[in-house]
Amino acid sequence: MLLRGTGALAEAARTRRALPGFVAYNLETVQALVSAAERTDRPVLLQAGASAFRHAGRDLLAQLAVSAAAASTAEIGVHLDHSRDLDEITTCIEAGYTSVMIDGSHLSFSDNIALTRTAVRRAHDAGVWVEAELGAIAGNEDVSTDAEAGAMTDPRQAAEFVAATGVDALAVAVGNVHGFTDRPVALDLDRLAAIHEVTPVPLVLHGASGLPAEQLLGALDRGVAKVNVNAELRRAYLQSVADQLPTALAGADVVSTWSAARSAVADAAVRTINLLTAERRKTNA
Ligand code: 13P
Repeated sequence: MLLRGTGALAEAARTRRALPGFVAYNLETVQALVSAAERTDRPVLLQAGASAFRHAGRDLLAQLAVSAAAASTAEIGVHLDHSRDLDEITTCIEAGYTSVMIDGSHLSFSDNIALTRTAVRRAHDAGVWVEAELGAIAGNEDVSTDAEAGAMTDPRQAAEFVAATGVDALAVAVGNVHGFTDRPVALDLDRLAAIHEVTPVPLVLHGASGLPAEQLLGALDRGVAKVNVNAELRRAYLQSVADQLPTALAGADVVSTWSAARSAVADAAVRTINLLTAERRKTNA
C-alpha cells in the first residue's frame, strides 16, 4: 500500500533507524524493490526521478512506480528524487507520488529558500511531504565518477533554511558523494551532529553506496532518518547481467537475464534494509 505522510520518517528518527530511499529505473528494479520491502516487511521509498524518466519516460515510469507500490502488501512511498523543476513536481504529485525532493542546491542560499518554499506550498496543499538540499552533494546520480566531496552544509544556515521553508526533511552534505569512490568516504560526523542539534526535521543522507557500515550507523545516531541508495543496486543489476550473459547469449534469452538481475537487486536492497532498520543499542551520540 502507499506509504503516506511523515510518520515512518519520524518513527525512524525516534528509533535511530532510517527509511531507505532506493532508486528505480525500470520494471525490474521497481519489482525488485517492492519484493525487498515485502520480504523484510519494512517501509521503503521507491525513488523514480528525472534521470530515470529520461530513460523510461516520465508518465509511464511514474504510473508503474505508483501502481506497484499501491498494489504491494508492504508500505511503500513513491518519492521524486532530485528535482529542480516545479512543473515536474506538480506532475508527479498528480501521478500519486507521496513525497518529493526539490533540489535548489545549485542556487544561492536565498534563491534555494525561495524555490523550496514554493515547492513546499504546492506539495503540502496536496498532502505530500518535501525533502530539500542544502550544501552540494557531489557526483553523478547515475554513474559512479569517483567524486570528491562538495561544499558542506553549514549548521547555522541549515537551521535558518528549515525555519524559512517549512521543509519536512533536509538532505545534507557532510562529505558524502553520489556513487562509489576509490578511497572510502569519511563523513564529517561532528558537522552532522551540529546540524542535527539545530534543525528540528529528520536529516537525509544521499550517496550511501560504498559507505562503510560504521559510518552509516554513525549518521543514524546523528539525526539521519532517510538514506538514499542507488549505485549499490545498479552494480548488483549489472553484475548479474554480466554473470548471465555467456549462457543467455547462446539462447538469446532475455527473460532469465532480467529475472536474475531483478533477484540480485532485491537481495542487495534487503541487505541495506536490514542494516538501516536493525534494532539499535543506545549510545551517547
Ligand atoms: P549512491 O548512488 O551513492 O547510492 O547515491 C544515491 C543517491 O543519493 C540518490 O539520490
